[in-house]
This record gives sequence, C-alpha cells and structure tokens, in this order.
Amino acid sequence: MDDVLQNIMDHAVAVAREAGQVVREALCDEKQRDVMTKSSTVDLVTQTDQRVEHLIIQSVKKKFPTHRFIGEESVAAGEACVLTDDPTWIIDPIDGTTNFVHSFPFVAVSIGFSVDKKIQFGVVYSCLEDKMFTARRGKGAFCNGEPLQVSDQEDVRRSIIATEFGSNRETETVEKIFSSLRNILNIPVHGVRGAGTAAVNMCLVASGCVEAYYEVGVHVWDVAAGSVIVEEAGGVLMDVEGGPVDLMSRRIVAANNGTVAHRIVKEIDAFSPTRDDGR
Ligand code: IPD
Repeated sequence: MDDVLQNIMDHAVAVAREAGQVVREALCDEKQRDVMTKSSTVDLVTQTDQRVEHLIIQSVKKKFPTHRFIGEESVAAGEACVLTDDPTWIIDPIDGTTNFVHSFPFVAVSIGFSVDKKIQFGVVYSCLEDKMFTARRGKGAFCNGEPLQVSDQEDVRRSIIATEFGSNRETETVEKIFSSLRNILNIPVHGVRGAGTAAVNMCLVASGCVEAYYEVGVHVWDVAAGSVIVEEAGGVLMDVEGGPVDLMSRRIVAANNGTVAHRIVKEIDAFSPTRDDGR
C-alpha cells in the first residue's frame, strides 16, 4: 500500500502543478476572472475555478477510476459532500478565489486525499509564489522539498495569529467574527494576519512564521490538505471550542502547539454554521 499511496501522491503533486499553471495563465486574462456568485454576493466563483476542478478530476479519474471526489465546485453544482471510507480526493481548485479575482497574490490549489475518513496526504500549491507544500501522514511536511517545522513559541503574546473574515455578511456572524478578533488583539498578540486563503494560512503555520490560524465558516476542501501539512510539521488541530477537530464542521484552529491553541480557543466567540455534510 505504501508505494501505491506514494504513486497517488505523486500524481496529486503533478496535477496540482498543472492546475497552478492554468491559474497563473488565467490571471493574465480578465475574461477568465469574470465573477459569478454562490451562497452570497461576496462568495465568488469564476469559470477558472470550474475549469481547474474539471481538469483535476478528469486527470485523476483516468489513473484511479474507482476513487471518489469532494470538490468545491462540484458540491456547489449539487453533488453530495459525503466522506466515506473509500479513497477520496478533496479538492479546492482555487483557494483564495477572491484573491484570484483581484490579483491579490496568494492563490492555492489544494488537494487532500482521504482513506477510512482520515487524510493520508495533502498538497497545497501556492501557485503565484511557486511554493509546493506537501505532507504525507507519518513522513513529515515539506515546501519545495525542504522540511517544515512549526514555531516553538509557547507565549501567545509573542505570536502572530492568522484568521479570515469569510463570506457570510449576516450581522450576527460579522459581530461574532469581530468579537473574537477584538479578544485576540486584546490579549495582546504581536499581530493578526490573513492571506485570503485558508490553505496558505495553514501552510504559514506549518512554516513557523504564524503561530496559529483559526476560522469559523471554512469548508472541508479549504482545510483537508492543510490539516495534514500542519500536523506533519509538528502542529496541532483543534475545534474552536477546544475539542477534537471535525473537518466537516466548518470550524478549525491550527496551531504550533496545544498551549497556543488552547489560549486562542478561550477568546473565540464560537458559532456553528451548517455542516458541509449537512448532518
Ligand atoms: C475561502 C478562502 C478564505 C476563507 C473562506 C474560504 P475559496 O475559500 O479560503 O480565505 O475565509 O472561508 O471559503 O472560496 O477561495 O475557495
């Protein structure tokens, strides 16, 4: 199985690189950045998201015809978002679609691979930086082949925390997001940042330049690949109320260690969006 999994992962890296090239080219063509909307007027999608997801799925199907898929745009088009024990590719063709639309330079192709409902490997290709983040469970995390290690900072007051505002603009949700942000700034922390892509934020945690990332409202395709990259770089995952993380719950804390994660959790004004699997 070891070599089989490596073969699958090698294909994921190759197809992520190919997809990244398509995204880079599309950035230079305004038509390919024409915006459509999904759950709200600020939840954006472009024909490039759809095209890149199609490219990845077709390429995988040719090589691994029995594998299943959870893809952001396929789910938006009505497909079920159900994780089974079967080998499943969890795909975000463009994580950071809003960045892509505005040419804000952090855009990633994110591919997680799950068997028995556990993520086995993750590939995040930050395609404008040309950084290929990879991690296979038990084998470490890497960026362009160089090993990654989370920060050893235990003191949240000496930390940078990453988060995002998401695309839900309901008053109650926006208030909770700002309440968490205010609490965290008031700790005080050294700074708060956000790359505009959950996958890249998680890779920043894995790289050691950000101590923690949290968000309520993400989707499984935003965080599946990043989850194993953070863990393999020595980090931890947690629910925003401190329990074990559930990738379908749309709530996540990814941190360099448990001390920082638990301290952040105390300040998060948690809420529960509709789960990705609708349960
Ligand atoms: C979004 C990005 C964003 C995060 C949202 C995600 P998308 O993914 O990761 O940073 O705040 O929650 O849905 O829509 O660009 O693939």
